[in-house]
Amino acid sequence: MRSLSTSRPSEATRPISRWRRGGVIVLLLVLLLAVALGVLIWCKFFRTEGQSFQADAETGASADVQRFKYGSQGGDLIAGIPYPVLFILPRVFSDLIPGHGGYGAFGLPWEEGQRLPIGFSIRRMGYERVTVNCALCHTAQYRLTPDENPRFAVGGPGHTVRLQALLRFLFACAHDERFSADRLLPEMALHFPMDAADLALYKLVIIPGTRAALLEAEKQLDWMNDRPDWGPGRDDAFNLPKLVLTQAEDDGTVGTTDFPALWKLGARKGLFHAGGEATALSSVIATSALGTGALPGPGFDRRNAWTGAFLADLAPPRFPGSIDVARAAEGAALFSRHCAACHAGARTGTAIPLAEIGTDPEHVRAWREDDARRMKQASAALGVKEPPLQASMGYVAKPLVGVWLLGPYLHNGSVPTLVDLLTPPAERPKLFWRGYDVLDLQAVGFVSHGPDAEKAGFRFDTALRGNGNGGHAFGTDLAPEQKQALIEYLKGL
Ligand code: HEC
Ligand code: HEC
Repeated sequence: MRSLSTSRPSEATRPISRWRRGGVIVLLLVLLLAVALGVLIWCKFFRTEGQSFQADAETGASADVQRFKYGSQGGDLIAGIPYPVLFILPRVFSDLIPGHGGYGAFGLPWEEGQRLPIGFSIRRMGYERVTVNCALCHTAQYRLTPDENPRFAVGGPGHTVRLQALLRFLFACAHDERFSADRLLPEMALHFPMDAADLALYKLVIIPGTRAALLEAEKQLDWMNDRPDWGPGRDDAFNLPKLVLTQAEDDGTVGTTDFPALWKLGARKGLFHAGGEATALSSVIATSALGTGALPGPGFDRRNAWTGAFLADLAPPRFPGSIDVARAAEGAALFSRHCAACHAGARTGTAIPLAEIGTDPEHVRAWREDDARRMKQASAALGVKEPPLQASMGYVAKPLVGVWLLGPYLHNGSVPTLVDLLTPPAERPKLFWRGYDVLDLQAVGFVSHGPDAEKAGFRFDTALRGNGNGGHAFGTDLAPEQKQALIEYLKGL
């Protein structure tokens, strides 16, 4: 070796080999740098940690319930918002929040001791990314009295969740000049350890990228500003896929629909969705997962199968007040006579035509053959194997599982209580407040009038498009004591 290295190369070859050696070293260095940068980028952006869930001794929730509440649906890569950014937004932009208490102002179901409300997953893919899951819109928050802590019914309707207000807050932040690395990074560094590489990535990529993504999302949802506000517990369930996923032309329809309960779905027969747009639970789950930002692939199918199995047996909590058993028995007979054909019989799971049911027609008008065909093409192009959605057919008569916790009632949440639903349509409340979480155990539903409801709730005007409270006059001509017996029975479902 020694003699080789010291032997004098000929005058002609010496500079070339030196040049070559230098070139190789440079090349190696460049390669090394590229590999190091690749590893750094992989670590900082893509290194994925699995999520694991344990039963919660304090609330008695099983590991599966915890996974439903906090697990990722798989949309982390394309829909994930960096946790540190989400964390500091209410601090930096507190003036843009409509109310007090940070994200609490949006009626999100937040358990004590958790980093984010139910319905949000935090998963590390490089950095911690936050996505929403099914539990955001499908967990009901309720209290028996104003001074107790909220209880949470997993799978129930998220009637307090102000999704539209939350989106508008995020969009307003993205428009604000304070949404810059200079303003956000020092605040973030106070709460999260960051090395020089983190700081650079946040400054150059993550903060501007998040801002751009929010502004793009705002553009995609611009149509919602031409329609009555969703208010808490609702979104425009079919214009969302129509106008965002299939990029259809805006036809001006209003499909504002309540977040429904997902209880005992394994026992459900027939059609799903308010308008009967889905013929199989698997297709509802697949399209809902797409809605949370998940993309088809093996993980997609596995997660959806888990969700389907979890929802098959999920049950509501028991009615928390007392039930008069004798009266409930009277009510059971009335239910068999007046209600069971649709809610526990031959027509359950079928769509009752608009002409017969007479409730607000807007949801049905929002999803036609053409929309279903476009959705079929879009989901096939994405590789979704489930049966496609079909046109709305009327409104589906569903089993009334956990009906005491489903207020306000009907697909658009336009009737506050069961007492109101059994009142002739013309006499039902035309204005009320929804989104307050204290139960009205007598009328069955949530407290929807009075100072507390007005302070915490959203003013719901049944005169606005999509908010009509007409139709479904069944049982409205029963005698007062019969109505009470019927309600006593309904409490136990
Ligand atoms: C942003 C809120 C939101 C999220 C997140 C969400 N849903 Fe929904 N879901 C809705 C709304 C609104 C409807 C009512 C639309 C309809 O049925 O016409 C609905 C309807 C459903 C239905 C039909 C219920 C019935 O009685 O026919 C099922 C099942 C369902 N969702 C499951 C899921 C699953 C599973 C996920 C997670 C992958 C999910 N949802 C995520 C808002 C949401
Ligand atoms: C002809 C069929 C039919 C009959 C009979 C019927 N219903 Fe209904 N019911 C429906 C349909 C369809 C809906 C959904 C309508 C909508 O959301 O616009 C519904 C909705 C409801 C809801 C609201 C559920 C929710 O999640 O908001 C309740 C409560 C209810 N019915 C109770 C009753 C009671 C009590 C009776 C008997 C007095 C009865 N229904 C009789 C078809 C029927």
